[in-house]
Amino acid sequence: MTAEAALSTPPADRQDAMPTPMPEVPLLQVRGLTRRYGARIGCADVGFDLWPGEVMGIVGESGSGKSTLLSCLAGHLTPDAGEVLWRGPDGTIRDVLAMAEPERRLLGRTDWAFVHQNPRDGLRMGVSAGGNVGERLMAVGARHYGRIRSTATDWLGRVEIDAARIDDAPRSFSGGMQQRLQIARNLVTHPRLVLMDEPTGGLDVSVQARLLDLLRGLVREMGLSAIVVTHDLAVVRLLAHRLMVMKDGRVVEAGLTDQVLDDPQHAYTQLLVSSVLQV
Ligand SMILES: Nc1ncnc2c1ncn2[C@@H]1O[C@H](COP(=O)(O)OP(=O)(O)OP(=O)(O)O)[C@@H](O)[C@H]1O
Ligand SMILES: [Mg+2]
Repeated sequence: MTAEAALSTPPADRQDAMPTPMPEVPLLQVRGLTRRYGARIGCADVGFDLWPGEVMGIVGESGSGKSTLLSCLAGHLTPDAGEVLWRGPDGTIRDVLAMAEPERRLLGRTDWAFVHQNPRDGLRMGVSAGGNVGERLMAVGARHYGRIRSTATDWLGRVEIDAARIDDAPRSFSGGMQQRLQIARNLVTHPRLVLMDEPTGGLDVSVQARLLDLLRGLVREMGLSAIVVTHDLAVVRLLAHRLMVMKDGRVVEAGLTDQVLDDPQHAYTQLLVSSVLQV
């Protein structure tokens, strides 16, 4: 299968996660996404489709353009060229890049979520844990204090944070707890698309494994579509149905995760996989 075809074909092992009948239009269609920093390429001509319930992994060495791509998708950076077509809940297709800023911000608080590598960038560190979760609910119109608090309590439980910590500020939490809280804050509004940049980066290996397990459970249970950027091939192996490999801002290989990792075609992917195996 060519990289092009692999980028557009929904994987067979994902059928169970798909609503029936299978929608004929992807949730997200990315075309020709390009961002330069002066003469330097951030990412160039990146394109792919993302289907409902699908998790796409993006891997590549440091500086390969993973964060640039994700930031362009999230609207944190303005690309120089490209289209990001989003299928809304009512089925209409919109170019996210052409949206007015307030509309895009609303999307970022409701249907889309962004999990930062550093929980400090995704949490309000001085606001209580319950407040961090409740704030997202209020952004989508929740007003009833008791209900907000009980939903927040429920979500703390789902990410394995003791309900007794609900009034504590995240700055008193461990790194792993902060990351779990960030995930709760993001998922409480039931987004349809979650963008994650190195969600397990910067954590102890044992903490990473637990977080990964939790994320995998939530993604499956909620039928989330997600794009996960990571250095860690173990993360994509566990989470991602499909994989894109980036080098120097471009996608050099793409396909089903197991296929790409077990039988890498591009020399760079072969190097990436073998360097991990040697560790
Ligand atoms: N703000 C910036 N100004 C100038 N160049 C930048 C900027 N941010 C990124 N770049 C360049 O764009 C390219 C892609 O960087 P990017 O941060 O997207 O890579 P990455 O794959 O996320 O790397 P890492 O794994 O280290 O996070 C690199 O050459 C980088 O030096
Ligand atoms: Mg990065």
